[in-house]
Amino acid sequence: MDRWIGKVAIVTGASSGIGATAVKALANAGMIVIGLARRAERIQELKQDVSPEVANRIHAHRCDVTSEQSVVDAFAAVDRQFGGVDVLLNNAGVSKLTCTLLTPGNGADLRTVMDTNVMGLVLCSREAFQSMKRRSVDGHIVNINSILGHKYVAFPNLNIYSASKYAVTAITETLRNDLRNEGTRVKVTSISPGIVRTEMVPEGDQFADTPMLEADDVVGAILYALGTPPHVQVHEVIIKPVGEMV
Ligand SMILES: NC(=O)c1ccc[n+]([C@@H]2O[C@H](COP(=O)([O-])OP(=O)(O)OC[C@H]3O[C@@H](n4cnc5c(N)ncnc54)[C@H](OP(=O)(O)O)[C@@H]3O)[C@@H](O)[C@H]2O)c1
Repeated sequence: MDRWIGKVAIVTGASSGIGATAVKALANAGMIVIGLARRAERIQELKQDVSPEVANRIHAHRCDVTSEQSVVDAFAAVDRQFGGVDVLLNNAGVSKLTCTLLTPGNGADLRTVMDTNVMGLVLCSREAFQSMKRRSVDGHIVNINSILGHKYVAFPNLNIYSASKYAVTAITETLRNDLRNEGTRVKVTSISPGIVRTEMVPEGDQFADTPMLEADDVVGAILYALGTPPHVQVHEVIIKPVGEMV
């Protein structure tokens, strides 16, 4: 990770779960980290968990990744205040376990999932790349995908979530091709976890006996991918807890 010391990382969905853990880990590794989320105040609170020196490298910016203007404004603010972005962690994501694909009136929920998990990731990648290109930076885009982006699993009410993650699998490879065609050495990595113990997973009996990863396990994979030498590109990491059925 030494080559990223003093460089700038943007983490989307930084207010809880994997994103919040990643903010602290990247700042601990010496990066300047700007966390994006709608609940920006929760990103500020992360500073209490690290030393004062590391806390100085953590910054919060309110951003709704479903709004193109909000994304453009956030990346412009990072360009102005920090010079630009070197690493993007596309982590913001939602599931809406309230309906099936056939439930009447489900349009708003389904659109929220696609706008967050798919369009949010695409728009943030575009803005990050433009910042890297302007400054001739060989940066790194890391997409938090899911095992459900590689295999359909019949969990109840997952509706369009799995399709949104299959889209992330395809978008990662499309980005890789676009980045190569642009003549850059910007890397893109997909990290696909099984179930992770975060606020996204409903509490209760349904998952009582299910083995789960912790956010730290996923962040370990992020640090591994970022820590590879400039000529090495980790394409895809699938991580599951031992004993997981799917
Ligand atoms: N937990 C799992 O089992 C699991 C498994 C595989 C993959 N994943 C993926 O891991 C990623 C992180 O999820 P998590 O498990 O850490 O869940 P989480 O604790 O619920 O965190 C989700 C994060 O996404 C942010 N977010 C949601 N909508 C947003 C929006 N419109 N604009 C900006 N930020 C938004 C939330 O922030 P605000 O609400 O403050 O905006 C929050 O910080 C997601 O992409 C998820 O699909 C999770």
